[in-house]
Amino acid sequence: MINILSRPDLTPDAVLASLQEHYGIDGTLTSLPGDRDLNFLVTGTDGLKRVAKISSPDETDEILEIEADLIRHMARATDGFVADVIPSLGGAWIVKHIAEDGKIHRIRVVEYLEGRLFAEVQPRSPSLLYDLGRRMADLDSALGAYPDHPPARIDFEWALGRSGLVMERCLSLFQGEQLELIQSVHDGWLKREPDFLGLGSQVIHGDVNDYNVLVSLPGDGPRRITGIIDLGDAHSAPRVFDLGIAIAYAILDTDDPLMSISEIVRGFHDRTPLSEEEADVVFALARARLGASVSISAWRRHQLGEVDDYALISERPAWDMLRKLHEIPVRLAEGVVREAAGLSASPNTPALTGWLEKQTFAPVINMPEEQDEVIVLDLSIASPLLNGRDTDFVEEFARRISRHMEDENARIGIGRYLEPRAFYLTELFKGRPGDPRERRTVHTGIDIFDQFGSGVHAPLTGHVLSVAHNGQNLDYGPTVILEHNSPVGPFWTLYGHLEAASVDQLEPGTKIQAGEVFARIGALEENGGWPPHLHFQILTDLMEFKGQFPGVALPREQPVWASFSPDPNLILHLPGDTTFTPLEGLSKRRAELFGANLGVAYDTPLHIARGVDTYLYDEMGRSYLDCVNNVAHVGHERRSVVEAGQLQMGVLNTNTRYLHERVLEYAERLTNWFPDPLSVCFFVNSGSEANELALRIARAHTASQGIVAIEGGYHGHSQTLIDVSHYKHAGEGGTGAPAWVRTVPIPDDYRGLYGRDVVDRGTRYAMHLGEAFGSLSSSGHKPAAFIAESILSCGGQIEPPAGYLEEAYRIARSRGALCIADEIQIGFGRTGSHMWGFGAANVVPDIVTLGKPIGNGHPIGAVVTTSEIADSFANGMEFFSTFGGNPVSSAIGLAVLDVVEHDRLQEHAAVIGGTLKANLASLAMRYESIGDVRGRGLFLGIEFVEDRIAKQPSARIARYVANRAAELGVLLSADGPHHNVIKIKPPMTFDQRDAERVVATIDQILSEDEAQPRE
Ligand SMILES: Cc1ncc(COP(=O)(O)O)c(C=O)c1O
Repeated sequence: MINILSRPDLTPDAVLASLQEHYGIDGTLTSLPGDRDLNFLVTGTDGLKRVAKISSPDETDEILEIEADLIRHMARATDGFVADVIPSLGGAWIVKHIAEDGKIHRIRVVEYLEGRLFAEVQPRSPSLLYDLGRRMADLDSALGAYPDHPPARIDFEWALGRSGLVMERCLSLFQGEQLELIQSVHDGWLKREPDFLGLGSQVIHGDVNDYNVLVSLPGDGPRRITGIIDLGDAHSAPRVFDLGIAIAYAILDTDDPLMSISEIVRGFHDRTPLSEEEADVVFALARARLGASVSISAWRRHQLGEVDDYALISERPAWDMLRKLHEIPVRLAEGVVREAAGLSASPNTPALTGWLEKQTFAPVINMPEEQDEVIVLDLSIASPLLNGRDTDFVEEFARRISRHMEDENARIGIGRYLEPRAFYLTELFKGRPGDPRERRTVHTGIDIFDQFGSGVHAPLTGHVLSVAHNGQNLDYGPTVILEHNSPVGPFWTLYGHLEAASVDQLEPGTKIQAGEVFARIGALEENGGWPPHLHFQILTDLMEFKGQFPGVALPREQPVWASFSPDPNLILHLPGDTTFTPLEGLSKRRAELFGANLGVAYDTPLHIARGVDTYLYDEMGRSYLDCVNNVAHVGHERRSVVEAGQLQMGVLNTNTRYLHERVLEYAERLTNWFPDPLSVCFFVNSGSEANELALRIARAHTASQGIVAIEGGYHGHSQTLIDVSHYKHAGEGGTGAPAWVRTVPIPDDYRGLYGRDVVDRGTRYAMHLGEAFGSLSSSGHKPAAFIAESILSCGGQIEPPAGYLEEAYRIARSRGALCIADEIQIGFGRTGSHMWGFGAANVVPDIVTLGKPIGNGHPIGAVVTTSEIADSFANGMEFFSTFGGNPVSSAIGLAVLDVVEHDRLQEHAAVIGGTLKANLASLAMRYESIGDVRGRGLFLGIEFVEDRIAKQPSARIARYVANRAAELGVLLSADGPHHNVIKIKPPMTFDQRDAERVVATIDQILSEDEAQPRE
């Protein structure tokens, strides 16, 4: 049977009486979790916090004495990392309390360490897991220096060394899936048990579970481990047992245990190197701890009828984790540990590659005589050969590859080893959860593109291990694995995308001679749906795969899979650079080449290599849902827009001094979208240029200079526009507004001058224009223009209250000023209800400026005005913008208009934006950190506060949300005068699924520790 120590049953009053008598401590007790011990947090009347521990009455004096001594050693050896024991008034480390029933209880008091229990920390970031590993190494070094060994505790069920026995004795309690899981963990344990003998032993902590590890509080820099408590399970065992135990609990409830294991092991190994023997048992140990834990819980429940919350607390997550680990091939998990410990993930690989390097092989595919008939194809994320959705249209993909090879006079094309690729888009490549950005994108074989029907030769003698038809779309199709012998053991070569008929005769065991043609390259229709090619890969371990083996890996696991499948060119000997090498040092180059005030988004800069619709992809193929880029209005790299530009680029690109139909058609189509009398347009190349020109036109028309703008507004980067942009001239590095500019208060009814309780707040805000124009005039600057966005973007997604723009325009016009609507952020239907932001405000401006979305990323700017105003601008001085309105830009602009009309993007923005806003508003009911949700259509803002009542802005939370969302694969940006507003302004093709993902991601982040409001 299994031995479980009973728990003490002292009342808090009895404990307090003892504390008063023996320690002179008075205070209040709060229960703390504990397995065998009864633990209380003692908040003393002296203001100090301590912990009182009452041991199991079954525990021996000897063990408790040694434990107290060990704690004192550890408190010194770890510099306070382990809480010290506090002596009683009489100088004793342990005091006895005799209960009324005569039972003797032993009480100790230890220091209280500040921190959050590891079990309660959200999220368990990679850096925290790494720190846990480092701290485990420190802990075990300090424990290793303890001179006296406590007893081995062979009869103690929680000792990891007894896991095998515990699981075995409890097997009868399980059935079905649970039985299968425990049996498999038990088998894994038995396989590794003989290895423990060689590991040596020392004092170990014995129970580094997630309730015994303390973490620094949020807000104190990156989270780190600050303490380890409860040495009550210390005993003699190999030090790596502690690492196994720590891993078992630290991975509970994590999506990707392998990633977590890797970080912890890396942290440990970087501090004190793990031997190969130690590394190889870590995974079995971690699984065994979970297996023993659920076994003990089951035993307690069945044999003792006990339902103990503390013991059961990790039971559900432990089963979940056992289930998850069961899905992962053991050799892969062990490989992950080995890789983190600086070893080759696949133990055989170094010896095998050493041997392969010395061999000669028959060519797998007949190579042309001329080396230049063999080219390396760029199939990486940024490849111009590809369009990001290539595998949706495989025939076209195949045509493109073969056309490219023809253009290059190539007979053979090579697809590189370790190349990240964007086209593995089906479910097959989803990989495991854990990092929502990642799919399996990194190629672990080499592709040889050749005619279908070309013979595939065995590079060396072997026999057929398997012939399989992996029939799913984009799978390997017909696949052969050959087994070969080498002096360092067997290894395998895999051949994918074959012709079915060519492998019909092959059977497992069929001998194949070096150089023999044993298969042929298959056609697209039967090879899994690919351009004809051979996928060739070396396997040093089959793991548990049959008939196939992964040919693409998750970016985070690349080094592990690259070890299991070393460079195929060891055998193929193909010419050229057949291994992909990622670019490095971009941040450094950028810092050297550009001014330091050219900012880069996010704490960890992204290297974005491709855009497809609402997604951006980095150089490893990680995907990011783009909620920032309102420039890619009709979707990133929208085909029709790209092609329109490409086609016109090949015909003519010149300036507007010639007659050209396209620019006229574009001007007609664009101005048709505006209400009368806005009918004349000017083309330029950016939003800044459009605003700069708008101011020139207004000044020409009014023969005046004075400009009124809104606080928090941004209108462009030229000197004049910085002068009118309060966001810049009143911000960091700004030198204030010049004499010809006045700014009026931001019409923010959440935190501005007039709140939502002020009924006529719109007109009240507008009245400030009167003062501003008055002040301008009295300083000698006659009014020329009032410039405003209809919804302020940099100002924090502020939609002015009803009536504001109407009244503001009335006042401006009454002072002789023109009204300029800056629609650069919000135009082209983004607000959902109207094509232009000013539409919702029921006004018609005198001049409208356009930019950003107008060219879907191609630099176009435009100014639209009335013929009367345009006439007064035509005062004799020529207007000329070299690139403005060129035929290429016009073709692109027209293609954008086509999509906006055809896809009814304005209505789409209203529908998707409407539900998105409602769902964000419902998050606000659950998270105090959300002060306000506002905006229109697909132009929304979430304002974060530390305190809802005081509305104290929280740039901290907004920044955390933006950075964390990027880690979770959603791009958001923070802005506003207090930098506390998250802006959501995605490409307009953003759909319901995208919107749901944004809400779920923000929901997850707002539940995390760093996103909680602070005093
Ligand atoms: C409202 C507004 N106006 C004008 C501009 C300037 O446009 P560009 O950067 O294309 O010169 C911007 C750019 O962010 C903007 O947001």
